[in-house]
Amino acid sequence: MTDLISLKGVQKYYGDYHALRDIDLTIRGGEFFSLLGPSGCGKTTLLRVIAGFEEVSDGTVVLSGRDMKGVPPNERPTNMVFQSYAIFPHLSVAQNVAFGLRKRKDIDKASRKSLVEEALKMVGLAGYGDRRAHALSGGQRQRVALARALVLKPKVLLLDEPMSALDRKMREHMQVELIRLQRHVGITFVLVTHDQEEALVMSDRIAVMFEGEIGQVDEPEALYRRPKSRRVAEFIGKMNFLPARVTGIGPGATPVARPAAQDEVVPGRIPQSRAAVKLSGLMRRGGEPAADTPATPGEAMISLDIAGLGQAQVPMHQAPEGAREGEVAVGVRPETLAILFEGDQAPRHECPGTVDEVVYYGDMTYYDVRVKDVPQPLTIAMKNLMGRPVLEVGQSCRIGWDDRALVVF
Ligand SMILES: Nc1ncnc2c1ncn2[C@@H]1O[C@H](COP(=O)(O)OP(=O)(O)OP(=O)(O)O)[C@@H](O)[C@H]1O
Ligand SMILES: [Mg+2]
Repeated sequence: MTDLISLKGVQKYYGDYHALRDIDLTIRGGEFFSLLGPSGCGKTTLLRVIAGFEEVSDGTVVLSGRDMKGVPPNERPTNMVFQSYAIFPHLSVAQNVAFGLRKRKDIDKASRKSLVEEALKMVGLAGYGDRRAHALSGGQRQRVALARALVLKPKVLLLDEPMSALDRKMREHMQVELIRLQRHVGITFVLVTHDQEEALVMSDRIAVMFEGEIGQVDEPEALYRRPKSRRVAEFIGKMNFLPARVTGIGPGATPVARPAAQDEVVPGRIPQSRAAVKLSGLMRRGGEPAADTPATPGEAMISLDIAGLGQAQVPMHQAPEGAREGEVAVGVRPETLAILFEGDQAPRHECPGTVDEVVYYGDMTYYDVRVKDVPQPLTIAMKNLMGRPVLEVGQSCRIGWDDRALVVF
């Protein structure tokens, strides 16, 4: 796949304010790419730089192999859905959607009509064509803005929080529609969101941004399972952190057999089965045990002594350089820990604990469990399987954990 978008050394200043700091980023043709980060981190600015609404202070933006310096937005192969979706209130829904098509001499009135209908159907607004735009709800207006961009079938669609005004159900519906559309039409999507679940569910790759910088670019699973820094780990999902000390480095993996991956991911094309799994909610309703990061025979391992948990061996690629000696922190996701119930498989490691807090979600229960010598209670996510009891505060329990799921910082 070719690089469709390539940013090199991009800097953006608003006066003295440094909004984008040395951004290097490539996005491939046909990719579903997300920019994820807290409010004010520069997501919209980065999108506007790609679309040509902002000039860079330094660095280059190359689209389809062409340097975009001085190229205005309307001459770029991009189309942007703005965070504040401005639709024309005095026009009808259909006129709004058809707006950009009018300039296209190659599209006659009849095809324009059918393209508009197709786009409205896509966003769940079939039959709304004649409605005045001012007589729509906020979520419906947002969908009109989306249809207006989709109808033009640009090479790159830049979406700035296009689903923020939709309720949960509608948002999930639109997520499915957007993935489908992207898969069939092959448009490259760059989606801005501050909703981590949305980014994980939808994207081929995600860039996590903080304060004008990119913290990590990776596929959703890699980002979730092997965050490269503590701030990425803290931003994506929940993670327990424990103090630890590196006691040795070297080969010594106990190889773990793992079935061959059933559906390898080709960037830009999410296999049906995978998309279905993703859309059912990767994290909240995620299974257990979640992490089984495989150890390859002879793979270098890092040995640790973890506060309260004791000795562990972690694959080297889960410990970034700079975290391979001395005092470190170990990260462990709630769903990679388990409270052991009768009949459960023997874990690689176990230790006793006491339930400190119970939060019941229906399908899941989140426990905070105190473990001797662990400074903070450990958060553990358990699926509420049939017949499995929900423990109460103060009860003693046994915790199972697997050192292959740990990440070192
Ligand atoms: N035109 C401008 N002039 C001065 N500062 C600006 C301008 N536009 C954005 N900024 C500042 O740049 C920073 C990044 O803004 P940006 O809109 O890119 O954030 P964001 O990540 O999209 O946030 P949000 O999730 O809230 O939309 C913010 O601190 C913002 O105040
Ligand atoms: Mg924004």
